[in-house]
Amino acid sequence: MSMKIAVLPGDGIGTEIVAEALRVLQALDLAFEFEQALVGGAAYEAHGHPLPESTLKLAQAADAVLFGAVGDWKYDTLERALRPEQAILGLRKHLQLFANFRPAICYPELTAASSLKPEIVSGLDLLIIRELTGDIYFGQPRGRRSAPDGAFAGAPEAFDTMRYTRPEIERIAHVAFQAARKRRGKLLSVDKANVLETFQFWRDVVTEVHAQYPDVELEHMYVDNAAMQLVKAPKRLDVVVTGNMFGDILSDEAAMLTGSIGMLPSASLNARNQGLYEPSHGSAPDIAGKGVANPLATILSAAMMLRYSLDQADAADRIETAVRAVLAAGLRTPDIWSEGTRKVGTREMGDAVVAALASPKAITTIT
Ligand code: IPM
Ligand code: MN
Repeated sequence: MSMKIAVLPGDGIGTEIVAEALRVLQALDLAFEFEQALVGGAAYEAHGHPLPESTLKLAQAADAVLFGAVGDWKYDTLERALRPEQAILGLRKHLQLFANFRPAICYPELTAASSLKPEIVSGLDLLIIRELTGDIYFGQPRGRRSAPDGAFAGAPEAFDTMRYTRPEIERIAHVAFQAARKRRGKLLSVDKANVLETFQFWRDVVTEVHAQYPDVELEHMYVDNAAMQLVKAPKRLDVVVTGNMFGDILSDEAAMLTGSIGMLPSASLNARNQGLYEPSHGSAPDIAGKGVANPLATILSAAMMLRYSLDQADAADRIETAVRAVLAAGLRTPDIWSEGTRKVGTREMGDAVVAALASPKAITTIT
């Protein structure tokens, strides 16, 4: 049976990097059915909405979604419901993609790209599991109380609601304990239980679920301390689980430890293991169309897609091995370039991964 992939390249560098990931997938000799659709600003331009019904339907019917990136400064003044970011929030909510995996791996070849000392980050392999469909991102009510004359701009007050239900916390806790069990058997749950009722509840429920995973060591930490520990001693952490907003912030911080956000993939899964796979970085409008964007985060996201949604762990391993071979050979897009390595563009990087897939040895020297 062929695997149905909805391909949503989006805006900015999205189209360039997704094209390379597709070439890598096509080189695998597996039966895929790719169908492409517009999303984000590109969909707004064509259909007047960042997540048209047709795009959503395609995503819902697919086994997995391969997503590029959305957004551009030129949409900053649009009303919120029409901004490109609403496409990704809508996909998360409609597909119930509650479990977001954001690995932060510091590749040995790229240790120098980190702003932290090599001994702090070399060999770092951290997994942030971010709850993705609840919290202050989606809690109701939210809005702005209008000014006495009904004006939006002069409103005296605005509000969002931080909220978690027990089942929402339970399901992400189960995902996190199971992930920790497959790794070092250690889970850190990050909250703000000292101030927020929502996150005291989070801590209580995670602790309850822990009873079913006595083999996993659970630690709790406040988010401010976690932000500090991430830069102080990140290698002491292994799997970190947290809510939607704290996870948004901490995962960017963790990405920067590796020095190369252009390298980091992500997966967002629902209860059926249907998933959306996207690079952790954004649409980078400043370099769009120049052929210099790093496609490796998207290529590695395609590997996560094979592993988590398509049950093709061997193919995922092959892609990851090919990416390591290309790095070891010294090929670098500008974002990860350093003295003594060879600067290549988006396409050339994709070519190199495809070549390394065919034969990892073909790519062991800088030519
Ligand atoms: C992310 C992004 C999104 C988020 C935005 C674009 C809505 O920052 O995926 O981390 O805040 O979740
Ligand atoms: Mn973010």
